[in-house]
Amino acid sequence: MKSHALVFLGAPGAGKGTQAHKVAEAFGIPHISTGEILRQAVASGSALGQAAKEKMEAGELVPDEVMCRIVADRIGQADCAKGFILDGFPRTVAQARFLDGLLDQGGQPLQVLNLQVKPELLMKRLRGRRTCPVCGTTYNLELNPPARNSVCDRDGARLIARADDNEEAIRHRLAAYERDTSPLIDYYKRRGVLHSVDGNRDPEAIAQELVRFLRDA
Ligand code: AP5
Ligand code: ZN
Repeated sequence: MKSHALVFLGAPGAGKGTQAHKVAEAFGIPHISTGEILRQAVASGSALGQAAKEKMEAGELVPDEVMCRIVADRIGQADCAKGFILDGFPRTVAQARFLDGLLDQGGQPLQVLNLQVKPELLMKRLRGRRTCPVCGTTYNLELNPPARNSVCDRDGARLIARADDNEEAIRHRLAAYERDTSPLIDYYKRRGVLHSVDGNRDPEAIAQELVRFLRDA
């Protein structure tokens, strides 16, 4: 794979985090989740975290200026020179235009991977999601459970649920996706950089397809 900037696009629960983790491991490139950066900021109590907490828990978007600054800082770091994955950014047309500007400066080609998942599956995936606070592995109590109830297979840590994985916040997140993020599908299609994949399948099958596609890209 050439030194690509990869963007994972998809509704909340489409599997962006799950797939980005696998693809990043396969190619040895950083996985940059803007949601994860914000959750760490909330946990640390930093000014960014305090500003973002309410919006995140309500399932609303954090302002573009804040997100653009975070991403500009992160992808300017040395480990991104050989390519990187953005998971959760861009989420608005303004963010996509900002990213175009950053990539033009760095000369890195862009590939956008769009995970398509049936709407009725999204709520189920999000309600059942549990994450390991130690190693970051994501499970689903119904669809992809750990071997032992509520503890991580890798390190035995107790799994936790995200503060925004309740029905009301999930509804707001899905609405924000439809309103602000889904226009990016056309935005990137017109530029000829969009590759859509069927995200309704087994996570391993999806990852294999993505890795195969990116090897030739
Ligand atoms: P973020 O963390 O990006 O959340 P999200 O977009 O809602 O996406 P999710 O992480 O919920 O879903 P995912 O697609 O990664 O699915 P996953 O792989 O985990 O953002 C959180 C918040 O931060 C936002 O609401 C906003 O407030 C703020 N924010 C972040 N970025 C921002 C930005 N750029 N601008 C403004 N605000 C921003 O999978 C979900 C579940 O399904 C898991 O349980 C998993 O095990 C399961 N699963 C995954 N794939 C499969 C499969 N193939 N089959 C069966 N189960 C599967
Ligand atoms: Zn773990």
